[in-house]
Amino acid sequence: MIYAVSADYTDFVHTGPGTLAGRYLRLFWQPVLRSEDLAPGRAVPVRIMGEDLTLYRGESGATHLVAGRCAHRGTKLSTGWVEDDCVRCLYHGWRYDGSGQCVEQPGEDQGFAAKVRITSYPTQEYLGLIFAYMGEGAPPPMRRFPDFEREGVLAAGTPEYWPCNYYNRLDNAPDAGHVPWTHRESLTRVGNRNVSNMTRAAEETEYGMLSRASGPGEPAHFLHFHMPNINQNRSAARVEGSLEDAAKLWVDRLFFRVPVDDENCVSFVVDLVPLTGEAGEAYRERRRHAEQTQTASLRQIAEDILAGKMHIHDVDQSLSTYKLFWIEDFAVQVGQGPIATRDQEHLGRIDVGVILMRKLWQRELKALAEGLPLKQWTEPAEGLAHMTEGNRLTAAAARSNGS
Ligand code: FES
Ligand SMILES: [Fe+2]
Repeated sequence: MIYAVSADYTDFVHTGPGTLAGRYLRLFWQPVLRSEDLAPGRAVPVRIMGEDLTLYRGESGATHLVAGRCAHRGTKLSTGWVEDDCVRCLYHGWRYDGSGQCVEQPGEDQGFAAKVRITSYPTQEYLGLIFAYMGEGAPPPMRRFPDFEREGVLAAGTPEYWPCNYYNRLDNAPDAGHVPWTHRESLTRVGNRNVSNMTRAAEETEYGMLSRASGPGEPAHFLHFHMPNINQNRSAARVEGSLEDAAKLWVDRLFFRVPVDDENCVSFVVDLVPLTGEAGEAYRERRRHAEQTQTASLRQIAEDILAGKMHIHDVDQSLSTYKLFWIEDFAVQVGQGPIATRDQEHLGRIDVGVILMRKLWQRELKALAEGLPLKQWTEPAEGLAHMTEGNRLTAAAARSNGS
């Protein structure tokens, strides 16, 4: 496909089919659902980068991603039946295989089915997530993250669907300057650490970008950004466990920020917690229990704050720091609006990471628009977690209660 050279390579937010940013994101495998949320023999609708699709798991266990609607008269295929590795439409029973080929049409002439094929995209599973390749040409090899292939508890959290553009979330990660203010209430509750006199730096790397924040006498806090939409950090483990656990337990985390459409996004968060055997099982159990009760009420609190019905400092004191962080981040990122008005921003010294990340994006989109070679991002074989000396902010979180 040929695209005009004048395509707007500063537009990162519109990602539907045919957009420049959408073409770029589609050149990478993107997670579309958590593996455990799709049982064999089930089909679900998924919306990714503005495309409505049907994701199903065949009776063999293999996953398939095909068009959202049946080619006959357009009803939603996810309402149909999964049979072997095919999906059959609920309306008149047309049946499609995982490649999108129609293989059966009750009541129709032989030969008609062979002429009908719907969209399909390759899928594969990794780190507890189902990934799809929705781009042009042959899919690249799956990107591997060595830090998450180590021994320990690997867990994909409940996906977070937020009513804002995925770039609001992406911009936030290298933005260490938000922490003392967005999370002021959280930090105050655990001892009011002064974290505003940090120095910040960001540099391009072979995988994307490394941001570093450090304060006097404190170990550096590293944040990794894997182009084009993945963040990685190490922080105190989520506090489903006892206080003792939380105080000494670290978790390596990957955050995939994926557009649902231009005004909604989903974050898939993968954790690797260095616990094995019984301790690992016990952690998994606590985590399962905590997740069952978690996000619905947190989201309601965050929405009440945005609606002016309450303030951050009114939030129940018994809430863990981890959960309060979540509410605070939702309030500021969703608070920027579904699509942030970047042309009206006033960026300053603290925005060094945000600025560099956007430069990388802009450079790659320009190259894509002009048909020039793109940078081939690679992951270091030894991973990145070893760089982490500590994390002064989440060390505070670790001292919080364990609710
Ligand atoms: S709409 Fe699917 S078979 Fe008729
Ligand atoms: Fe935050």
